[in-house]
Amino acid sequence: MPERPMQTRITELLGIDYPIIQGGMQWVGRAELASAVSNAGGLGILTALTQPSPEALRAEIRRCRDMTDRPFGVNLTLLPTIDPVPFDEYIRAIVESGIKIVETAGRSPEPFLATLKAGGAKVIHKCTSVRHSLKAEALGCDAVSVDGFECAGHTGEDDVPNLVLLPCAAAVLKVPIIASGGIGTASQLVAALALGAEGINMGTRFVATDEAPVHDNVKRAMVEADERQTALVLRTLQNTARVFRNAIAEEVLAIEAREGATDFADLRPLLAGRRGRERVLEGGDINDGVWTAGMVIGLIDDVPSCAELVQRIVREARELIATRIARFA
Ligand SMILES: Cc1cc2nc3c(=O)[nH]c(=O)nc-3n(C[C@H](O)[C@H](O)[C@H](O)COP(=O)(O)O)c2cc1C
Repeated sequence: MPERPMQTRITELLGIDYPIIQGGMQWVGRAELASAVSNAGGLGILTALTQPSPEALRAEIRRCRDMTDRPFGVNLTLLPTIDPVPFDEYIRAIVESGIKIVETAGRSPEPFLATLKAGGAKVIHKCTSVRHSLKAEALGCDAVSVDGFECAGHTGEDDVPNLVLLPCAAAVLKVPIIASGGIGTASQLVAALALGAEGINMGTRFVATDEAPVHDNVKRAMVEADERQTALVLRTLQNTARVFRNAIAEEVLAIEAREGATDFADLRPLLAGRRGRERVLEGGDINDGVWTAGMVIGLIDDVPSCAELVQRIVREARELIATRIARFA
């Protein structure tokens, strides 16, 4: 028997059964994964820029609709890129495809918010600080994903982990908060709820699932790794990203540790997204490119299906609340 729904303001806002979201993930957030998470009762999210063009995104949205009749969202990452991205056209593809949930990240969604709202989309903005969360709320975002320092990918430069960041955010925000970063287990869902969040967002944990479209070697490496096996690259350029600590990440760190200002040209061949995708995520050589992963790899011990993972988290969260937590009430 599947667990009964677990209601929060986030599940009500998004029309889902459980307050568990799969965050946008470049090269990973495709229809296979997003539909599996949505079919499991959480919210799956397609990653817009994984698709090479707005037309390809429209096709991917159609493909995902064929795989689930549950709500799913689209992530639009607004970071500066080496090749310019036609953001307006991606936004048009999202709105015209009838997408009603959009996760924005990277910088303020302000330039696109009116169009998304006019299309009827709920906007979740993901950011790494209280001040950016407040800005997102003031702009009219419907929810904020608060990404603590533990997270995979862009950590920001404040380095505040979720044990402090979430209650700081909860003290001042009125819109519902989604806890993001470092989360993969039921006890962390319970903790996130206690800290003021009404849902969790997971990236890394969902990469180590059956349906994630990445090479098995990547999933196995996550199972084997401990919590110290991530590295912060691009710190010297104030564009910090948490990645799996492998040979290439070490090479990047060695270049960044040299005296004098870091020249991005030295790093580009090592950090190229295409290299990580082709050699690691598709090719399975976990040491031949940079790939995004968070500290939660230390808590990943298996590669379940998305349905098994979501059910396990909800079931164990309820058990925890009824046992370990209830005895203090
Ligand atoms: C492989 C991978 C790729 C990611 N790519 C993106 C991205 O393109 N845009 C984005 O907003 N977040 C991206 N993220 C971050 C996740 O959406 C999420 O915020 C983060 O993974 C949460 O931390 P966790 O990994 O500890 O759960 C990525 C994460 C991973 C693991």
